Amino acid sequence: MKTVHVHLGERGYDILIAPGLLEKAGDLFLKNRVGKRIFVVANDDVFQLYGQSLLEQLRERFEATEILIPDGEKHKNLVTVENIYTYLIAQGADRDATLVALGGGVTGDIVGFAAATFLRGIRYIQVPTTLVSQVDSSVGGKTGVNYHLAKNMIGAFYQPHLVYIDPNTLSSLPEREFQSGLYEVVKYGLIYDAEFLSYLDCHLEAIKQRDPAILEQVIGRCCEIKAEITSLDERESDLRRILNFGHTFAHALEAVNAFQGITHGEAVGYGMVAATRLSRSKGLLKPEQAEHIEGVVRKIGPLPSIEDVSAERMLESMERDKKRKEGQIMVVLLKEIGRTLIQPGGEAEISEIWEELRSAC
Ligand code: NAD
Ligand code: GLY
Repeated sequence: MKTVHVHLGERGYDILIAPGLLEKAGDLFLKNRVGKRIFVVANDDVFQLYGQSLLEQLRERFEATEILIPDGEKHKNLVTVENIYTYLIAQGADRDATLVALGGGVTGDIVGFAAATFLRGIRYIQVPTTLVSQVDSSVGGKTGVNYHLAKNMIGAFYQPHLVYIDPNTLSSLPEREFQSGLYEVVKYGLIYDAEFLSYLDCHLEAIKQRDPAILEQVIGRCCEIKAEITSLDERESDLRRILNFGHTFAHALEAVNAFQGITHGEAVGYGMVAATRLSRSKGLLKPEQAEHIEGVVRKIGPLPSIEDVSAERMLESMERDKKRKEGQIMVVLLKEIGRTLIQPGGEAEISEIWEELRSAC
Protein backbone atom coordinates (compact mmCIF):
# COMPACT_ATOMS: atom_id res chain seq x y z
CA MET A 1 0.00 0.00 0.00
CA LYS A 2 1.29 3.45 -0.91
CA THR A 3 0.74 6.17 1.68
CA VAL A 4 1.09 9.87 0.93
CA HIS A 5 0.73 12.33 3.79
CA VAL A 6 -0.70 15.80 3.35
CA HIS A 7 1.29 17.94 5.77
CA LEU A 8 -1.17 20.37 7.27
CA GLY A 9 -0.44 20.07 10.99
CA GLU A 10 -3.52 19.02 12.91
CA ARG A 11 -5.53 19.09 9.68
CA GLY A 12 -3.01 16.75 8.02
CA TYR A 13 -4.15 13.37 6.71
CA ASP A 14 -3.08 10.26 4.86
CA ILE A 15 -3.92 9.25 1.33
CA LEU A 16 -3.91 5.44 1.16
CA ILE A 17 -3.58 3.88 -2.30
CA ALA A 18 -3.74 0.17 -3.11
CA PRO A 19 -5.65 -2.15 -5.41
CA GLY A 20 -8.19 -4.07 -3.31
CA LEU A 21 -8.24 -1.46 -0.52
CA LEU A 22 -12.05 -1.29 -0.49
CA GLU A 23 -12.17 -4.84 0.85
CA LYS A 24 -10.18 -3.76 3.91
CA ALA A 25 -12.18 -0.64 4.72
CA GLY A 26 -13.65 -2.01 7.95
CA ASP A 27 -10.25 -2.60 9.57
CA LEU A 28 -8.54 0.46 8.16
CA PHE A 29 -11.36 2.85 9.11
CA LEU A 30 -11.24 1.43 12.63
CA LYS A 31 -7.48 1.95 12.78
CA ASN A 32 -7.96 5.53 11.63
CA ARG A 33 -10.46 6.33 14.41
CA VAL A 34 -13.50 7.46 12.51
CA GLY A 35 -16.19 7.36 15.20
CA LYS A 36 -19.09 4.97 15.62
CA ARG A 37 -21.62 6.26 13.07
CA ILE A 38 -20.86 6.29 9.39
CA PHE A 39 -23.00 7.61 6.53
CA VAL A 40 -21.91 6.43 3.09
CA VAL A 41 -23.04 8.94 0.47
CA ALA A 42 -23.17 7.78 -3.15
CA ASN A 43 -25.32 7.92 -6.25
CA ASP A 44 -27.41 4.88 -7.17
CA ASP A 45 -25.01 3.44 -9.74
CA VAL A 46 -21.90 3.71 -7.61
CA PHE A 47 -23.80 2.40 -4.61
CA GLN A 48 -24.82 -0.71 -6.56
CA LEU A 49 -21.25 -1.22 -7.76
CA TYR A 50 -19.33 -0.65 -4.51
CA GLY A 51 -21.55 0.82 -1.80
CA GLN A 52 -23.57 -2.22 -0.85
CA SER A 53 -20.52 -4.39 -0.14
CA LEU A 54 -18.72 -1.52 1.60
CA LEU A 55 -21.71 -1.01 3.85
CA GLU A 56 -21.95 -4.71 4.72
CA GLN A 57 -18.31 -4.69 5.72
CA LEU A 58 -18.59 -1.49 7.76
CA ARG A 59 -21.65 -2.82 9.57
CA GLU A 60 -19.47 -5.50 11.20
CA ARG A 61 -17.69 -2.72 13.12
CA PHE A 62 -19.78 0.46 12.91
CA GLU A 63 -23.33 1.71 12.71
CA ALA A 64 -23.39 2.38 8.99
CA THR A 65 -26.15 3.72 6.70
CA GLU A 66 -26.32 4.91 3.10
CA ILE A 67 -27.48 8.26 1.77
CA LEU A 68 -28.33 8.22 -1.94
CA ILE A 69 -27.95 11.33 -4.07
CA PRO A 70 -28.73 11.91 -7.76
CA ASP A 71 -25.97 11.42 -10.34
CA GLY A 72 -24.45 14.24 -12.36
CA GLU A 73 -22.88 17.68 -12.31
CA LYS A 74 -26.30 19.28 -12.74
CA HIS A 75 -27.17 18.01 -9.25
CA LYS A 76 -24.02 19.47 -7.69
CA ASN A 77 -26.03 22.15 -5.98
CA LEU A 78 -27.46 23.31 -2.67
CA VAL A 79 -30.62 21.22 -3.06
CA THR A 80 -28.58 18.02 -2.88
CA VAL A 81 -26.63 19.35 0.11
CA GLU A 82 -29.88 20.27 1.85
CA ASN A 83 -31.23 16.76 1.32
CA ILE A 84 -28.12 15.35 3.00
CA TYR A 85 -28.62 17.68 6.00
CA THR A 86 -32.27 16.65 6.24
CA TYR A 87 -31.37 12.97 6.29
CA LEU A 88 -28.61 13.45 8.86
CA ILE A 89 -30.93 15.39 11.16
CA ALA A 90 -33.68 12.77 10.78
CA GLN A 91 -31.16 10.09 11.75
CA GLY A 92 -29.99 12.06 14.79
CA ALA A 93 -26.42 12.42 13.52
CA ASP A 94 -24.14 14.23 15.95
CA ARG A 95 -20.66 15.76 15.77
CA ASP A 96 -19.04 12.36 15.98
CA ALA A 97 -20.65 11.18 12.75
CA THR A 98 -18.49 10.50 9.70
CA LEU A 99 -19.55 11.02 6.10
CA VAL A 100 -18.00 8.84 3.43
CA ALA A 101 -17.96 10.26 -0.11
CA LEU A 102 -18.08 7.21 -2.35
CA GLY A 103 -17.92 8.17 -6.02
CA GLY A 104 -16.50 10.73 -8.39
CA GLY A 105 -15.61 14.36 -7.92
CA VAL A 106 -19.23 15.47 -7.92
CA THR A 107 -20.03 13.29 -4.90
CA GLY A 108 -16.73 14.22 -3.20
CA ASP A 109 -17.25 17.98 -3.59
CA ILE A 110 -20.88 17.80 -2.38
CA VAL A 111 -20.14 15.56 0.60
CA GLY A 112 -17.09 17.59 1.60
CA PHE A 113 -19.22 20.72 1.66
CA ALA A 114 -22.01 19.04 3.62
CA ALA A 115 -19.38 17.83 6.12
CA ALA A 116 -17.81 21.29 6.35
CA THR A 117 -21.12 22.92 7.23
CA PHE A 118 -23.20 20.34 9.11
CA LEU A 119 -22.99 21.12 12.84
CA ARG A 120 -20.15 23.52 11.88
CA GLY A 121 -18.03 20.64 10.66
CA ILE A 122 -17.97 16.87 10.94
CA ARG A 123 -15.44 14.31 9.77
CA TYR A 124 -15.49 13.00 6.19
CA ILE A 125 -13.55 10.40 4.24
CA GLN A 126 -12.99 10.52 0.51
CA VAL A 127 -13.37 7.19 -1.27
CA PRO A 128 -12.91 8.31 -4.88
CA THR A 129 -13.92 5.93 -7.65
CA THR A 130 -13.18 7.92 -10.85
CA LEU A 131 -9.77 8.82 -12.21
CA VAL A 132 -10.51 12.56 -11.83
CA SER A 133 -11.34 12.09 -8.19
CA GLN A 134 -8.46 9.68 -7.44
CA VAL A 135 -5.82 12.00 -8.87
CA ASP A 136 -7.31 15.36 -8.01
CA SER A 137 -10.61 16.21 -6.37
CA SER A 138 -10.36 13.92 -3.32
CA VAL A 139 -7.13 15.60 -2.20
CA GLY A 140 -6.70 19.17 -1.00
CA GLY A 141 -10.00 19.96 0.70
CA LYS A 142 -11.69 22.09 -1.94
CA THR A 143 -15.37 21.38 -1.39
CA GLY A 144 -18.45 23.02 -2.82
CA VAL A 145 -21.29 23.22 -5.27
CA ASN A 146 -22.34 25.16 -8.35
CA TYR A 147 -24.73 28.07 -7.94
CA HIS A 148 -27.02 28.57 -10.95
CA LEU A 149 -24.51 28.88 -13.81
CA ALA A 150 -21.51 29.73 -11.64
CA LYS A 151 -19.16 26.79 -11.21
CA ASN A 152 -18.13 25.90 -7.64
CA MET A 153 -19.34 29.31 -6.46
CA ILE A 154 -20.38 28.19 -2.97
CA GLY A 155 -17.89 26.16 -0.97
CA ALA A 156 -15.30 25.82 1.75
CA PHE A 157 -11.74 24.68 2.18
CA TYR A 158 -12.25 21.70 4.45
CA GLN A 159 -9.81 18.82 4.60
CA PRO A 160 -10.89 15.17 4.70
CA HIS A 161 -9.95 12.88 7.58
CA LEU A 162 -8.61 10.28 5.17
CA VAL A 163 -8.43 9.64 1.43
CA TYR A 164 -8.93 6.02 0.57
CA ILE A 165 -8.09 5.06 -3.04
CA ASP A 166 -8.70 1.65 -4.58
CA PRO A 167 -7.58 1.79 -8.25
CA ASN A 168 -9.49 -1.45 -8.92
CA THR A 169 -12.70 0.60 -8.92
CA LEU A 170 -11.52 2.14 -12.20
CA SER A 171 -12.20 -1.14 -13.98
CA SER A 172 -15.92 -0.31 -14.18
CA LEU A 173 -15.43 3.30 -15.26
CA PRO A 174 -16.79 4.07 -18.76
CA GLU A 175 -14.09 4.82 -21.32
CA ARG A 176 -15.08 8.46 -21.67
CA GLU A 177 -14.84 9.06 -17.91
CA PHE A 178 -11.44 7.34 -17.74
CA GLN A 179 -10.19 9.50 -20.58
CA SER A 180 -11.51 12.57 -18.77
CA GLY A 181 -9.28 11.74 -15.82
CA LEU A 182 -6.24 11.50 -18.05
CA TYR A 183 -6.46 15.23 -18.79
CA GLU A 184 -6.05 15.99 -15.09
CA VAL A 185 -3.18 13.49 -14.92
CA VAL A 186 -1.35 15.18 -17.80
CA LYS A 187 -1.98 18.56 -16.15
CA TYR A 188 0.40 17.63 -13.28
CA GLY A 189 3.19 16.87 -15.73
CA LEU A 190 2.63 20.12 -17.60
CA ILE A 191 2.60 22.40 -14.57
CA TYR A 192 5.02 20.67 -12.23
CA ASP A 193 7.00 17.69 -13.44
CA ALA A 194 8.49 17.46 -16.94
CA GLU A 195 9.87 13.98 -16.23
CA PHE A 196 6.41 12.74 -15.28
CA LEU A 197 5.02 14.18 -18.51
CA SER A 198 7.59 12.25 -20.56
CA TYR A 199 6.68 9.10 -18.64
CA LEU A 200 2.99 9.65 -19.38
CA ASP A 201 3.70 10.35 -23.02
CA CYS A 202 5.68 7.09 -23.35
CA HIS A 203 3.24 4.93 -21.38
CA LEU A 204 -0.08 6.39 -22.52
CA GLU A 205 -1.22 3.20 -24.24
CA ALA A 206 -0.52 1.00 -21.18
CA ILE A 207 -2.26 3.54 -18.97
CA LYS A 208 -5.27 3.51 -21.30
CA GLN A 209 -5.33 -0.29 -20.98
CA ARG A 210 -5.69 0.35 -17.21
CA ASP A 211 -2.69 -1.76 -16.29
CA PRO A 212 -3.12 -1.90 -12.47
CA ALA A 213 0.58 -1.60 -11.59
CA ILE A 214 1.04 1.43 -13.84
CA LEU A 215 -2.20 2.99 -12.62
CA GLU A 216 -1.11 2.69 -9.00
CA GLN A 217 2.13 4.48 -9.86
CA VAL A 218 0.44 7.21 -11.84
CA ILE A 219 -2.21 7.88 -9.20
CA GLY A 220 0.50 7.85 -6.52
CA ARG A 221 2.61 10.45 -8.33
CA CYS A 222 -0.40 12.72 -8.93
CA CYS A 223 -1.36 12.51 -5.26
CA GLU A 224 2.21 13.29 -4.21
CA ILE A 225 2.24 16.41 -6.36
CA LYS A 226 -1.18 17.54 -5.19
CA ALA A 227 -0.26 16.85 -1.55
CA GLU A 228 2.95 18.85 -1.90
CA ILE A 229 1.23 21.84 -3.49
CA THR A 230 -1.75 21.92 -1.13
CA SER A 231 0.47 21.45 1.95
CA LEU A 232 2.37 24.58 0.93
CA ASP A 233 -0.68 26.64 0.02
CA GLU A 234 -3.89 25.19 1.42
CA ARG A 235 -6.17 28.12 0.57
CA GLU A 236 -4.91 29.01 -2.90
CA SER A 237 -3.28 32.30 -2.08
CA ASP A 238 -0.30 31.55 -4.30
CA LEU A 239 1.25 28.26 -5.49
CA ARG A 240 -2.00 26.29 -5.53
CA ARG A 241 -3.31 28.52 -8.31
CA ILE A 242 -1.15 26.58 -10.78
CA LEU A 243 -3.53 23.63 -10.33
CA ASN A 244 -6.04 25.76 -12.21
CA PHE A 245 -4.10 25.34 -15.46
CA GLY A 246 -6.75 25.08 -18.18
CA HIS A 247 -9.53 25.79 -15.69
CA THR A 248 -10.30 29.41 -16.65
CA PHE A 249 -11.52 28.05 -19.98
CA ALA A 250 -12.79 24.75 -18.54
CA HIS A 251 -15.12 26.23 -15.93
CA ALA A 252 -16.53 28.69 -18.48
CA LEU A 253 -17.10 25.89 -20.99
CA GLU A 254 -18.87 23.70 -18.43
CA ALA A 255 -21.13 26.58 -17.40
CA VAL A 256 -21.93 27.59 -21.00
CA ASN A 257 -23.03 23.98 -21.51
CA ALA A 258 -25.21 24.19 -18.39
CA PHE A 259 -23.06 21.44 -16.83
CA GLN A 260 -24.20 18.85 -19.36
CA GLY A 261 -22.78 17.23 -22.48
CA ILE A 262 -19.12 17.76 -21.62
CA THR A 263 -17.26 16.26 -18.67
CA HIS A 264 -15.09 18.33 -16.35
CA GLY A 265 -11.99 16.49 -17.58
CA GLU A 266 -12.82 17.11 -21.24
CA ALA A 267 -13.37 20.78 -20.49
CA VAL A 268 -9.93 20.82 -18.82
CA GLY A 269 -8.53 19.16 -21.98
CA TYR A 270 -9.83 22.05 -24.10
CA GLY A 271 -8.73 24.53 -21.46
CA MET A 272 -5.16 23.23 -21.49
CA VAL A 273 -4.98 23.44 -25.29
CA ALA A 274 -6.34 27.01 -25.16
CA ALA A 275 -3.93 28.04 -22.36
CA THR A 276 -1.02 26.50 -24.27
CA ARG A 277 -1.94 28.44 -27.43
CA LEU A 278 -2.30 31.60 -25.33
CA SER A 279 1.16 31.01 -23.82
CA ARG A 280 2.57 30.71 -27.33
CA SER A 281 0.79 33.82 -28.57
CA LYS A 282 2.16 35.80 -25.60
CA GLY A 283 5.66 34.69 -26.59
CA LEU A 284 6.16 32.57 -23.47
CA LEU A 285 6.28 29.19 -25.18
CA LYS A 286 8.17 28.44 -28.37
CA PRO A 287 5.86 27.28 -31.21
CA GLU A 288 7.45 23.80 -31.28
CA GLN A 289 6.98 23.41 -27.51
CA ALA A 290 3.36 24.48 -27.79
CA GLU A 291 2.82 22.00 -30.61
CA HIS A 292 4.39 19.19 -28.58
CA ILE A 293 2.19 19.96 -25.55
CA GLU A 294 -0.97 20.13 -27.65
CA GLY A 295 0.04 16.82 -29.24
CA VAL A 296 0.30 15.13 -25.82
CA VAL A 297 -3.12 16.45 -24.76
CA ARG A 298 -4.77 15.52 -28.07
CA LYS A 299 -3.31 11.99 -27.91
CA ILE A 300 -5.49 11.25 -24.88
CA GLY A 301 -8.51 10.96 -27.15
CA PRO A 302 -11.21 12.84 -29.03
CA LEU A 303 -12.87 15.84 -27.42
CA PRO A 304 -16.56 16.65 -27.98
CA SER A 305 -17.41 19.43 -30.41
CA ILE A 306 -17.36 23.06 -29.23
CA GLU A 307 -18.81 24.30 -32.49
CA ASP A 308 -21.77 25.93 -30.73
CA VAL A 309 -19.74 27.74 -28.08
CA SER A 310 -18.78 31.21 -29.23
CA ALA A 311 -15.96 33.25 -27.71
CA GLU A 312 -18.55 35.81 -26.70
CA ARG A 313 -20.38 33.25 -24.54
CA MET A 314 -17.10 32.03 -23.07
CA LEU A 315 -16.04 35.57 -22.11
CA GLU A 316 -19.46 36.25 -20.59
CA SER A 317 -19.09 33.14 -18.45
CA MET A 318 -15.49 33.98 -17.50
CA GLU A 319 -16.76 37.31 -16.13
CA ARG A 320 -18.52 35.30 -13.42
CA ASP A 321 -15.52 33.14 -12.60
CA LYS A 322 -14.10 33.34 -9.11
CA LYS A 323 -10.53 33.28 -10.42
CA ARG A 324 -10.95 36.86 -11.73
CA LYS A 325 -8.78 39.47 -10.06
CA GLU A 326 -9.50 43.20 -10.05
CA GLY A 327 -11.87 42.74 -12.96
CA GLN A 328 -9.35 40.84 -15.07
CA ILE A 329 -9.57 37.26 -16.31
CA MET A 330 -6.55 35.45 -14.86
CA VAL A 331 -5.03 32.53 -16.76
CA VAL A 332 -2.35 30.03 -15.77
CA LEU A 333 0.20 30.02 -18.60
CA LEU A 334 3.26 27.90 -19.35
CA LYS A 335 6.81 29.21 -19.79
CA GLU A 336 7.98 25.67 -20.46
CA ILE A 337 6.90 22.22 -19.37
CA GLY A 338 6.86 22.27 -15.57
CA ARG A 339 7.08 26.09 -15.26
CA THR A 340 4.03 28.31 -15.00
CA LEU A 341 3.14 31.98 -14.86
CA ILE A 342 -0.21 33.58 -13.96
CA GLN A 343 -1.28 36.61 -15.97
CA PRO A 344 -4.40 38.41 -17.12
CA GLY A 345 -5.55 36.69 -20.29
CA GLY A 346 -6.65 39.75 -22.25
CA GLU A 347 -10.15 39.53 -23.71
CA ALA A 348 -9.15 40.03 -27.34
CA GLU A 349 -6.46 37.34 -27.16
CA ILE A 350 -8.73 34.89 -25.35
CA SER A 351 -11.40 35.50 -27.93
CA GLU A 352 -9.05 34.98 -30.84
CA ILE A 353 -7.61 31.74 -29.41
CA TRP A 354 -11.07 30.36 -28.69
CA GLU A 355 -12.43 31.12 -32.16
CA GLU A 356 -9.31 29.49 -33.67
CA LEU A 357 -9.97 26.34 -31.62
CA ARG A 358 -13.65 26.34 -32.40
CA SER A 359 -13.21 26.70 -36.13
CA ALA A 360 -10.80 23.73 -36.16
CA CYS A 361 -13.45 21.59 -34.47
P1 NAD B 1 -18.49 12.51 -11.63
O1 NAD B 1 -18.38 12.57 -10.18
O2 NAD B 1 -19.70 13.11 -12.26
O3 NAD B 1 -18.35 10.99 -12.09
C1 NAD B 1 -18.49 10.67 -13.45
C2 NAD B 1 -19.48 9.52 -13.68
O4 NAD B 1 -18.85 8.29 -13.33
C3 NAD B 1 -20.73 9.60 -12.84
O5 NAD B 1 -21.84 9.26 -13.62
C4 NAD B 1 -20.51 8.55 -11.75
O6 NAD B 1 -21.69 8.01 -11.26
C5 NAD B 1 -19.71 7.51 -12.50
N1 NAD B 1 -18.85 6.66 -11.69
C6 NAD B 1 -18.12 7.00 -10.61
N2 NAD B 1 -17.31 6.00 -10.25
C7 NAD B 1 -17.56 4.97 -11.09
C8 NAD B 1 -17.02 3.68 -11.23
N3 NAD B 1 -16.00 3.26 -10.48
N4 NAD B 1 -17.51 2.87 -12.21
C9 NAD B 1 -18.49 3.33 -13.04
N5 NAD B 1 -19.02 4.56 -12.96
C10 NAD B 1 -18.54 5.38 -12.01
O7 NAD B 1 -17.24 13.23 -12.35
P2 NAD B 1 -15.69 13.31 -11.99
O8 NAD B 1 -15.02 13.50 -13.27
O9 NAD B 1 -15.27 12.23 -11.09
O10 NAD B 1 -15.59 14.66 -11.15
C11 NAD B 1 -15.85 15.91 -11.72
C12 NAD B 1 -16.19 16.89 -10.62
O11 NAD B 1 -15.06 17.04 -9.76
C13 NAD B 1 -16.52 18.28 -11.13
O12 NAD B 1 -17.63 18.77 -10.44
C14 NAD B 1 -15.29 19.09 -10.79
O13 NAD B 1 -15.59 20.44 -10.57
C15 NAD B 1 -14.85 18.42 -9.52
N6 NAD B 1 -13.42 18.60 -9.22
C16 NAD B 1 -13.11 19.05 -7.99
C17 NAD B 1 -11.79 19.21 -7.64
C18 NAD B 1 -11.44 19.63 -6.25
O14 NAD B 1 -10.28 19.92 -5.99
N7 NAD B 1 -12.37 19.62 -5.33
C19 NAD B 1 -10.77 18.91 -8.56
C20 NAD B 1 -11.14 18.44 -9.82
C21 NAD B 1 -12.47 18.27 -10.15
N1 GLY C 1 -8.27 21.26 -8.68
C1 GLY C 1 -7.69 22.51 -8.25
C2 GLY C 1 -7.34 22.51 -6.81
O1 GLY C 1 -7.57 21.58 -6.08
O2 GLY C 1 -6.80 23.47 -6.35
